[in-house]
Amino acid sequence: MQSQTLIRSLGNSGVQLSALGFGCMGLVGWYGERNDDEARATVLEALERGVTHYDTAHIYQNGANEQFVGELLKLRRSQVFIATKYGITRDSSGATVIDNHPNSLRAAVESSLQRLATDHIDLFYLHRIDKRVPIEESVGALKELVIAGKLRHLGLSECSVSTLRRAHLVHPITAVQTEYSLWSRDAEQDMLPACRELEVAFVAYSPMGRGFLAGNFRTADELPDNDVRKRQPRFVGENGAHNAKLVDAIKAFAAQHTATAAQIAIAWVLAQGEHIHVIPGMKTRAHLRDNLAALNLKVTAGEWQQLAKTIAALAPHGDRHPPVMMAAIDR
Ligand SMILES: NC(=O)c1ccc[n+]([C@@H]2O[C@H](COP(=O)([O-])OP(=O)(O)OC[C@H]3O[C@@H](n4cnc5c(N)ncnc54)[C@H](OP(=O)(O)O)[C@@H]3O)[C@@H](O)[C@H]2O)c1
Repeated sequence: MQSQTLIRSLGNSGVQLSALGFGCMGLVGWYGERNDDEARATVLEALERGVTHYDTAHIYQNGANEQFVGELLKLRRSQVFIATKYGITRDSSGATVIDNHPNSLRAAVESSLQRLATDHIDLFYLHRIDKRVPIEESVGALKELVIAGKLRHLGLSECSVSTLRRAHLVHPITAVQTEYSLWSRDAEQDMLPACRELEVAFVAYSPMGRGFLAGNFRTADELPDNDVRKRQPRFVGENGAHNAKLVDAIKAFAAQHTATAAQIAIAWVLAQGEHIHVIPGMKTRAHLRDNLAALNLKVTAGEWQQLAKTIAALAPHGDRHPPVMMAAIDR
């Protein structure tokens, strides 16, 4: 199969990656029905088609995600770029805890290396910023792991610009990962310009609003009981009903361009800057193929602006995370 990817530099790291990466979070749990055979086939086809950037995390299915992905990616280890994260964890009662303590980071890196069946992690993010630990201490600990050869590049997820600047003084930060999509555009205020200035890659997560912007469901009621998206404020009750209007607008725009809503959501993100990478979540080959085809869409800058204006005018209802996770965002 031919490579169908758009290649972009990952910040100023010297690494060239498929701009369309692979968000692995929902592959084997959390989102919808699980089908491991299809998930495996999807990752293998992505490898064939030249997708080189794979994004997972310690917390995803409590390590099972790293293990599942690691088993597949080790087949092509030298050709793939593995990103993982630590910083969101759970205490003994199951409550969410943000932890960037140096000892925790060192232990997390060891366990991720084991589960990923690799001797190095290409990009290691602080998944959230722990306000109890100075960022200099956390990044200082990660810097030692870079020197030891266990980590290649460092990243921060959902950090503020001031945290990014402080961290960058301790060790170059290669990527910032934050939610960014047609209905989650906070990063435009200061983070996207700061990343451009510092030559840091911006990795956009949930580009399809967790599947909602692709038109897959219209309210949280349509999701299975074990789906973590049931708690997302934007999908619940009146918010879901209102936000469905945004999806209708994306679908109408997609129809004018003979595209799917998913393709429009992804291509819009990539069109917002050369330093932007996107990591859609997909666990079927049909979705992978649809998303790769988004790279061939021809839409003018003026048309993209008009779409963004239409969505902004409709204004999404609801926060982009439940309260506990909103409180964990570093601002
Ligand atoms: N740093 C962070 O805190 C953070 C937070 C959230 C996510 N992430 C990362 O970002 C990645 C992507 O985010 P996400 O998974 O939350 O949301 P997303 O990429 O916006 O949406 C994923 C959903 O869209 C569906 N989908 C994919 N392609 C489609 C297509 N062509 N047509 C219709 N539906 C399609 C998927 O269905 P199927 O699964 O059935 O294919 C899945 O339900 C995650 O996997 C994770 O790696 C990071």
